[in-house]
Amino acid sequence: MWLLPSFRAALAWALLSLVLGSELSLQESLLLKSLGLSAKPSPRAPIPVPSVLWRIFEQRRTLPAADGAAEDGCSVEEFNVPGNIIRVFADRGHFLHEGQPQGGLCLQKLLYFNLSVLEEDELLTMAQLEVRFSHSSYQPSGQGQLFELRLYQSSHLALQGQGRKLLLEQSFAQLHKSLLFNLSTVAKDWRTLGRNLGLVLEISMSSSEAAASRGLQSPCGSISSFLDSSLLVVSLSPQQCKASRSKRSAQRPRGTGSALCKPRRLYISFSDVGWENWIIAPQGYLANYCLGQCPFPLAAELNGTNHAILQTIVHSMDPKATPQPCCVPVRLSPISILYYDNSDNVVLRHYEDMVVDECGCR
Ligand SMILES: *[C@@H]1O[C@H](CO)[C@@H](O)[C@H](O)[C@H]1NC(C)=O
Ligand SMILES: *[C@@H]1O[C@H](CO)[C@@H](O)[C@H](O)[C@H]1NC(C)=O
Ligand SMILES: *[C@@H]1O[C@H](CO)[C@@H](O)[C@H](O)[C@H]1NC(C)=O
Repeated sequence: MWLLPSFRAALAWALLSLVLGSELSLQESLLLKSLGLSAKPSPRAPIPVPSVLWRIFEQRRTLPAADGAAEDGCSVEEFNVPGNIIRVFADRGHFLHEGQPQGGLCLQKLLYFNLSVLEEDELLTMAQLEVRFSHSSYQPSGQGQLFELRLYQSSHLALQGQGRKLLLEQSFAQLHKSLLFNLSTVAKDWRTLGRNLGLVLEISMSSSEAAASRGLQSPCGSISSFLDSSLLVVSLSPQQCKASRSKRSAQRPRGTGSALCKPRRLYISFSDVGWENWIIAPQGYLANYCLGQCPFPLAAELNGTNHAILQTIVHSMDPKATPQPCCVPVRLSPISILYYDNSDNVVLRHYEDMVVDECGCR
């Protein structure tokens, strides 16, 4: 078949870009897999990053792990629990009433947190529910007015109208901006298939107050004071939390100079790999890489193995038959990344082996 040269060139280019494109997506999916993600997240309705996650992220970044006490990435000091992944799940439930609820009830809502992204071998170590309000109360109209908050666990029984399990009940003189509840036990149970039917959140006025204010218009105040709720879950993914060898070395790779094997400076920007819309922080990090010669005689600073020392001897005798040993990372350190996952949840996760600290001839 005869083709115009320019058309042939265009065709070749199209095929090449196709090959390069699939190569890139294969590499990308391998990397995403190593980060525990099934596909590149594309946040649609991301929730704002909770301040507690920013705080932990900043702590990890500014306090390089010193000996002993410091954060090793496999425990969360803030909550004093083991874990290397902190996820904040947005509520996917819905209101259980149309418009303003009746009686003394101010709010009734199904709360649903989809924990299915937790992998099977992840150990859930903590779960905390946060219920948020835009301002500090439902405008009590009289003295000593009390609100009651109740949280029920939905069960199959509940669906058959045989009641629901009361998890907690608390009275408040005022509803604060943020209420926190320990749901560790409940969330652990949710990981059993079919057990997570959500929670029902109810806020009502205490009955005496409801009676006293009968006839007043909308004693609950504006329902719009309720903002949202979220569930913070800490878990430990064991294969990513090996024994702590994660002390970030203070030294930074020197610039150019010697051609010998050593770490070289490499800054990886997440926007360069097209990940800026789902990685929240950092924007990039100093990853570094290893490059250089491993010549005979192998100097001690090159951290060679006995095998590498022998290989350089053999190489020096017959360079064509045996190559020099390779210059490879021998010590790496972790970083923490804050990102949106495939379901728009906010995740703060600790990743091992992200930064090259030392190189060696191997
Ligand atoms: C929970 O999320 C998974 C995907 O992570 C989805 O397949 C599943 O349908 C969700 N379950 C519910 C009840 O929304
Ligand atoms: C939450 O509850 C669990 C189980 O009752 C308990 O072991 C844990 O210490 C509690 N966590 C906090 C922060 O109170
Ligand atoms: C070899 O290890 C030592 C400390 O163990 C380190 O100071 C040195 O930089 C390492 N060499 C290379 C090439 O990274």
